[in-house]
Amino acid sequence: MPRKILVTSALPYANGSIHLGHLVEYIQTDIWVRFQKMRGNSCIYVCADDTHGTPIMLRAEKEGITPEQLIDRTWHEHKRDFDGFHVEFDNYYSTNTPETRHYADTIYTKLKEAGLIEVRAIEQFYDPIKEMFLPDRFIKGECPKCHAKDQYGDNCEACGAAYQPTDLIEPYSAVSGAKPVRKTSDHHFFKLSDPRCADFLKQWTADPAHVQAEAANKLDEWLQAGLSDWDISRDAPYFGFEIPDAPGKYYYVWLDAPIGYMGSFQNYCGKNGLDFDEYWKPDSTAEVYHFIGKDILYFHTLFWPAELHHAGYRTPTGVFCHGFLTVNGTKMSKSRGTFITAESYLNHLNPEWLRYYYAAKLNGSMEDIDLNLEDFAARVNSDLVGKYVNIASRCAGFVSKRFGGKLGEIDRAATVEYEAAFQTGAIASAYEERDYGRALREIMRLADVANQYIAERKPWEMAKQEGREAELLEVCTTAMTLFRDLTLYLKPVLPKLAEQVEAFLNIPPLAWADIWAPLPAGHVINDYQHLMTRIDPKKIETMVEENKQSLAPTPEAAAPAPIKHAQHQQNEAKAEIAASEEKSAWEPFIGIDDFTKIDLRIARIANAEHVEGADKLLKLTLDLGTETRTVFAGIKAAYAPESLVGRLTVMVANLTPRKMKFGLSEGMVCAASDERGGPFLLAPDSGAQPGMRIK
Ligand code: MSP
Ligand code: ZN
Repeated sequence: MPRKILVTSALPYANGSIHLGHLVEYIQTDIWVRFQKMRGNSCIYVCADDTHGTPIMLRAEKEGITPEQLIDRTWHEHKRDFDGFHVEFDNYYSTNTPETRHYADTIYTKLKEAGLIEVRAIEQFYDPIKEMFLPDRFIKGECPKCHAKDQYGDNCEACGAAYQPTDLIEPYSAVSGAKPVRKTSDHHFFKLSDPRCADFLKQWTADPAHVQAEAANKLDEWLQAGLSDWDISRDAPYFGFEIPDAPGKYYYVWLDAPIGYMGSFQNYCGKNGLDFDEYWKPDSTAEVYHFIGKDILYFHTLFWPAELHHAGYRTPTGVFCHGFLTVNGTKMSKSRGTFITAESYLNHLNPEWLRYYYAAKLNGSMEDIDLNLEDFAARVNSDLVGKYVNIASRCAGFVSKRFGGKLGEIDRAATVEYEAAFQTGAIASAYEERDYGRALREIMRLADVANQYIAERKPWEMAKQEGREAELLEVCTTAMTLFRDLTLYLKPVLPKLAEQVEAFLNIPPLAWADIWAPLPAGHVINDYQHLMTRIDPKKIETMVEENKQSLAPTPEAAAPAPIKHAQHQQNEAKAEIAASEEKSAWEPFIGIDDFTKIDLRIARIANAEHVEGADKLLKLTLDLGTETRTVFAGIKAAYAPESLVGRLTVMVANLTPRKMKFGLSEGMVCAASDERGGPFLLAPDSGAQPGMRIK
């Protein structure tokens, strides 16, 4: 009996581009789905853009378009990127749709009837200029612990402390810069603290089929600590669905996001005449799996099953959680050019190279995976081009040139040996368990056996010798059969390459069961066309360079990242993720806007003199062309005043004047120093004139 399976990947936010980190998830899911389909199972893969929330609302406003226009544009970009990587959804939808609204209202209403929704007044930060409540991520201020400035309202990027926005020192709104005020309003809560939820979740998460062992440990900790009620409403202005019986209140984006899985599936059912309830009723025999990243485990293994269960739906068969992508051993970084968008990858490199590399690294666990760019090129070149494609390119020519493309009998003895070396079941179970690395190791072992067979028989020598035609045809036919088998096994990972091979071998789309039927004698194959080139490392370099250049602040770089962990208890999960990602020494980065706030000018030192009673300072008179300034500079130890007069240097011209014991200092000169010496004053190249701006 074929299985009935519904699969989802997390819904990407509609205010950012797809990058190589996202693709760890979508490629991984796509491989699994393609494997299931090849096995003859019914497997439906749905996804959608996650369209609601404050960041999307503000982003649209900044661009001067409506949120609907923004999400429509992003949908097309995301779809193009997924198509580019051969991620083949059965339905790619949006959460801003009637279907998702319907299920959000249904679930909300059922939870309310079950007595699991409570309205409570809470006090929050409010931006009096923008007239809106501020999510944690839109409140900034000084860290209460380490006093780093400009930290977000939920945790400090300098020291890692987690806190409430109300703990920030001198908080300000990241939207308008205004000082936020505290304001009370009614919020709707999903009562996770209700013993019915805790009891259900303890039981649900304890089933090893539902969550991986690593996840279960984490969940156990969270459950031990006790679950707080979940704030599921937001006040207007908000881009989302208004709650039916609460005008001016909207579902929080994370309430309707997972419901978007149902919305997308309902839309698919409508188009394909399927019964939604057959998949979602409590006693459904269909399987439902969610692929997610470790940063959103909380939402998918606690909130989501609790919501579904108490609203009268089935819960997921399994939640498959993966780790985060690092590039060359560290967190993706814009300054290093390793924050690579899907679009820019596709401009330079073949998507199946990345699919292969990710697959080789994935093992079904929650460990992070590293894209090492050197290893990437080496691995793809040696496995795919050197081992796999090589089999066809060494033998196909003889079949077309010498035998008109017609295959003969296979070498029975060799295939028996080969079948013994190699178990179909092992590859299938590795795919099923999402241990693609193990599947590929097994497949490459088979490629080695095939190459060894060819190397031993030496068809190129047979081709030169009279009377060895039959032997030559047998060896080439056997090699083509092994190549067909390898293609079958690699097809979930390399679907486009497999299509090319199917065309070359002149066979219908490969399914898993085809493994038992060798290519028949007399079957005619087409002329061999080159299948895959080696990776040129220069192209990788160019791609990385391109991503460095796109570092210039884009609106998305400037906008705060959307919040994933609305509640304090989730900060723990987030801090752990943060700890696993190495920070660049240059963080926090600033945008060009931050830089241009500093007005740096060329200044001529018109005069320099000692200051009575100061042992470090010199008093400088700086000529800016249009005016002169007095600046006290701590450079006395390194410079004699007379040596400075007439020199050009660099000054910060818009520093707030500071009253010192010796007089008013109207700016600052720039100098370099560290333990090796200094201060060394800066000097411009000749030609620079006093007053010129440095930018
Ligand atoms: N919109 C939410 C998900 C809602 S699901 C009902 C969201 N979106 S996201 O765009 O930030 O992330 C989408 C998926 O990509 C998540 O599963 C996330 O874990 C994954 N990844 C995003 N960046 C990633 C890496 N750098 N590495 C691996 N996976 C990453 O979260
Ligand atoms: Zn701090």
